[in-house]
Amino acid sequence: IDEKHVLEQNDREKALSCKMVLSMDLQRCQCFIEKPGAVDEPPKQFTFDGTYYIDQATEQMYNEIVYPLVEGVTEGYNGTIFAYGQTGSGKSFTMQGVSEPATQKGIIPQAFEHIFESIQCAENTKFLVRASYLEIYDEEIRDLLGSDTNQRLEVSPCFLDKLNRLRCIRRSQMYYCSLVSTAR
Ligand SMILES: Nc1ncnc2c1ncn2[C@@H]1O[C@H](COP(=O)(O)OP(=O)(O)O)[C@@H](O)[C@H]1O
Ligand SMILES: [Mg+2]
Repeated sequence: IDEKHVLEQNDREKALSCKMVLSMDLQRCQCFIEKPGAVDEPPKQFTFDGTYYIDQATEQMYNEIVYPLVEGVTEGYNGTIFAYGQTGSGKSFTMQGVSEPATQKGIIPQAFEHIFESIQCAENTKFLVRASYLEIYDEEIRDLLGSDTNQRLEVSPCFLDKLNRLRCIRRSQMYYCSLVSTAR
């Protein structure tokens, strides 16, 4: 990873002479995965609503995908951002990010800033911001803002209601919730 935080091969990948197997057609939002060595095999092809290559920063993804979603939330719609993928694929990097460069700020801190900026600019509307933080790991659920984070929550239709909810008046309070669990 160079100082611009563009994803590059690590030393192990370089030592093994690993080849890039992924290419993209950004206009068509398509990904192509080649099988190394299999020259005759056509690459596997996937089409998405949006695709971002390794030289694109989280900022661009935020502006195109997350920004409209968060705006919708401030207008009363539900919104979900869900990071899914194999270990090492960049879920945590995309969600938490790094503070430098600013273009690689994570979706979570960026969304917190966005929410509180929207609230500040809104006229004639009162907002209540509450944060919960839970972990789902190996089919087990834990409340990361609970006093005992080892305690497992039973999966039930209304388990979300049982989570601790912190009222956030400032962005820093919301950010604090995410830090509590990262530290654990
Ligand atoms: N877009 C990116 N730019 C630079 N480094 C990245 C990027 N995405 C992931 N990384 C790095 O790759 C490694 C694995 O990413 P990570 O977010 O921890 O994966 P995951 O959470 O999906 O297991 C980390 O060292 C992370 O810093
Ligand atoms: Mg991770």
